[in-house]
Amino acid sequence: MIIDGKKASAALREELKEKVSKLKSTYNTVPGLTVILVGEDPPSKIYVKNKEKSAVEVGINSEVIHYPDNIEEKVVLDKIKELNKNDKVSGILVQLPLPKHIDKRKVIETIDPSKDVDGLHPVNVGNLSSGYDSTIPCTPMGCYLLIKNTEKNLNGKHAVIIGRSNLNGKPMTQLLLKENCTVTITHSKTKDLKAECKRADIIVAAVGKPKLVKADWVKKDAIVIDVGINKTDSGLVGDVDFDEVSKIAKAITPVPGGVGPMTIACLLSNTVECFKRARSN
Ligand code: GUN
Repeated sequence: MIIDGKKASAALREELKEKVSKLKSTYNTVPGLTVILVGEDPPSKIYVKNKEKSAVEVGINSEVIHYPDNIEEKVVLDKIKELNKNDKVSGILVQLPLPKHIDKRKVIETIDPSKDVDGLHPVNVGNLSSGYDSTIPCTPMGCYLLIKNTEKNLNGKHAVIIGRSNLNGKPMTQLLLKENCTVTITHSKTKDLKAECKRADIIVAAVGKPKLVKADWVKKDAIVIDVGINKTDSGLVGDVDFDEVSKIAKAITPVPGGVGPMTIACLLSNTVECFKRARSN
């Protein structure tokens, strides 16, 4: 089975559109999302454009602040502080990666945790790992929803996550632990990645290595979620060898059209949730 991320994303965005419309009649205003982009990284520019377009489609107020590559760190931090105080802004996202002279940690920690739609602020990371309510990073949230759409009961499943990033691997671990999975988190120093994958009921690949996961790494009946987006001479490919693995796995996400569209829908969902939380306090 091929997991259709586009379809799942469209359904979620349709739901959000209705929610936003109801919020508008209740509060006479709509959620607002501000994205800060620094520099000209081509993939980042595409992501930001897609985020903006999707936000507008569900009725969220969208603003993109685009700074040149050489902008001073202080300008970005001051802008975030200003946005933190602005009631019209429900969510703030600073697109990563940032240029080297800007301290990513400082930037993330300057965002008010209640407006951190990326779920990267230590308050949100800590709440997630303690099992409390928090804003969950968009990509692992998207993966999680696709896994749950495929299989409701994950009790006791063995999940293998490839990659230990703050954006994906680590929060993915927390989400699957909450579902009572046994989680193995693997990375570049893992001794025998193939053997680890071979034991997995669920594989989430998020390392940025084209077609790393091969058919003989995957158990029959495994669910395979591919977070990778790698540009190669033969076009965009994931971290999983889709042509091979799709013949073996029970369910697999394609690239493109799998996790990517869900990430954006989850960002919009986080923005709506931040808006609601700000008004329920
Ligand atoms: N760059 C790639 N993915 C992401 C993401 O989920 N959030 C942010 N802020 N930057 C990214």
